[in-house]
Amino acid sequence: MGPVLCDPQDLIKDLNEQQMKAVKYYGQALLIGAGAGSGKTRVLTRRIAWLLAHGFWASSILAITFTNKAAAEMRERLAALVGPEAEHMWISTFHSACVRILRRDGKEIGLKSGFSIYDTADSERLIKLIGADLNVDMKRYTPRMLLGKISDCKNALTTWKDQLKAVNCDYQPGQRGYQVGSGDVDELVAVIYAEYQHRLAMANAVDFDDLIMRTVELLQTRPQVSEYYRHKFRYIFVDEYQD
Ligand SMILES: Nc1ncnc2c1ncn2[C@@H]1O[C@H](COP(=O)(O)OP(=O)(O)O)[C@@H](O)[C@H]1O
Ligand SMILES: [Mg+2]
Repeated sequence: MGPVLCDPQDLIKDLNEQQMKAVKYYGQALLIGAGAGSGKTRVLTRRIAWLLAHGFWASSILAITFTNKAAAEMRERLAALVGPEAEHMWISTFHSACVRILRRDGKEIGLKSGFSIYDTADSERLIKLIGADLNVDMKRYTPRMLLGKISDCKNALTTWKDQLKAVNCDYQPGQRGYQVGSGDVDELVAVIYAEYQHRLAMANAVDFDDLIMRTVELLQTRPQVSEYYRHKFRYIFVDEYQD
């Protein structure tokens, strides 16, 4: 995992002036904005190769994209520039970087490393089961709508416990025979959210939103873990930031 030794000048000689400047930039965070096809990803990959050619370790680089397709493109373009060294970099989507972090350190927050990841169909199936058990009118409150509300909570980093408290509800996950007050959507959502998380935990599973939310929780509450990644990643690149 040593540095890539090539002539750094080869990495910039076919760039325009502005691109060259961005590749060589030294300093605090840099945001590059330019039109589609103008060479942003090219700058980003050259910059990473430039750092490697100057002795930075591939394992200290984290390159994040928003889609699997963009991550694959970045990985291919970097492999073409720096060879097998590209394998030692983290080149991934936000979600897959979270999976990696949680598999390594999730046990710190009670997540076993072999956890499975529910996709949307898995989540909808679970919501249907819960709805049936709680006698919820699933024609009125569709799994999609309920999952959307749960997703909103998670994106706001609101836990199921907070959500139950917010609606003044004393539901205990796993409780049998609970009657949700009719017509109170917020209470219904809170109860289903609580039960959904309970059953995910019993199945040692997480959903897509949990990947982000639990990683935030891990990094915010476990200083030894956040310290590890702060030390490991000296450079963080985000492509397709506009998305
Ligand atoms: N200075 C340049 N000289 C030659 N080709 C370039 C230059 N800058 C960009 N390109 C080419 O233009 C295309 C689009 O570049 P890319 O980095 O994917 O753009 P963006 O990420 O901004 O959409 C690529 O094929 C890239 O190799
Ligand atoms: Mg691009």
